[in-house]
Amino acid sequence: MAEHPAYPVGLRLTGRRVVVLGGGQVAQRRLPALIAAGGAIVLISPEATPSVEAMADAGEITWERRRYTEGDLTDAWYALIATGDGEANARASTEAERHRVWCVRADDADQATAWTPATGHSEGVTVAVLTTDVKGRDPRHTAAIRDAVVEGLRDGTLVARHHRARTPGVALVGGGPGDPDLITVRGRRLLAEADVVIADRLGPRDLLAELPPHVEVIDAAKIPYGRFMAQEAINNALIEHAKQGKSVVRLKGGDPYVFGRGMEELHALAEAGIACTVVPGISSSISVPGAAGIPVTHRGVAHEFTVVSGHVAPDDERSLVDWPSLAKLTGTLVVLMGVDKIGRIAETLMAHGRSPQTPVALVQEGTTAAQRRVDATLATVGETVRAEGVKPPAVIVIGEVVNVGLPAARAPKPSRPS
Ligand SMILES: C[S@@+](CC[C@H](N)C(=O)[O-])C[C@H]1O[C@@H](n2cnc3c(N)ncnc32)[C@H](O)[C@@H]1O
Repeated sequence: MAEHPAYPVGLRLTGRRVVVLGGGQVAQRRLPALIAAGGAIVLISPEATPSVEAMADAGEITWERRRYTEGDLTDAWYALIATGDGEANARASTEAERHRVWCVRADDADQATAWTPATGHSEGVTVAVLTTDVKGRDPRHTAAIRDAVVEGLRDGTLVARHHRARTPGVALVGGGPGDPDLITVRGRRLLAEADVVIADRLGPRDLLAELPPHVEVIDAAKIPYGRFMAQEAINNALIEHAKQGKSVVRLKGGDPYVFGRGMEELHALAEAGIACTVVPGISSSISVPGAAGIPVTHRGVAHEFTVVSGHVAPDDERSLVDWPSLAKLTGTLVVLMGVDKIGRIAETLMAHGRSPQTPVALVQEGTTAAQRRVDATLATVGETVRAEGVKPPAVIVIGEVVNVGLPAARAPKPSRPS
């Protein structure tokens, strides 16, 4: 039976009877894909794992709590035989053969009429890897090939350009805090498919070096803006490139909608009739403290965290932040863009009731090789920033969570910073 390679095919199971014999680990692993394929699944088994039972409770499968009996495979289109009883499995596969039902055998691939490929998905495509020879079956190898292909497609190291589905337009991609591994899978893939990338200074700059030479990389800070505002000039650059039929990625630091002006760009593109997709990113407001060993919440310590922009001082009439109210909160305050103004921010918080002893940490260039953490209190932070020469970009964390981390000797090493 195994002298010829298996013939690969995609079964369209929607509404079709699929019989699964045995409710153990094999069923647990295979059922989600069968459910996703829309099969009318009947599980025949006296027992089932809690996960399989949950699928039955959710109505995703019909569970008959009994052993296999002759006749169960009548009218089935496909069968998965995976009971713990070898003799029952053999009888079931004989029945499947007689009724010409394609069947997978968990205990004896040689006796099966069908094999399950190692499968994975990426952007609307299923990658299925089958071994060609049952005697030389090496499931780990097929799974490794599947992983290599799917992961490569997801992280952009394997580029398969879309020819029909690919539409020109703009993707606003949140690139995360800086470590190139902290961009989303979707963001990385769009980057790999881009013709033009307009990038901010913050974010995963290392990824730009990996782009193929034909990709035009534009530094957003260097777009000339003459009589326009800088943001308007960036919007115009996005629109112009998209109008030339190019795929444009606007690569931003963190998340596009956290002090990232993402919505302004979206509005400008919509006004110009340009299709735009927005890909969320890992915001520095949570990930940078985390990279320095500070959780923004901690049980029994902080039940809230508030992210604030510190780019204008508390007494500046343009400020939209209610600092006196923030001073009354007991939880964590995370201040972005606040290095220059932190002295005045701290004074305002103390003047409205926050203790001068409140711990403060400044995390500069978080998640990059240059990451640096400087600790202070509300009373000392203004002077500490000057004395230590803390420079933007930095995330400032104010609150007791600053002190709940592991001592440096026991803390896990961040993945990138040295
Ligand atoms: C214009 S805001 C953009 C925030 C971004 N959209 C986000 O979600 O992280 C820029 C500020 O984010 C913070 N920031 C971003 N990346 C950082 C990093 N790697 N380390 C420290 N602070 C960072 C700094 O406070 C910086 O001044």
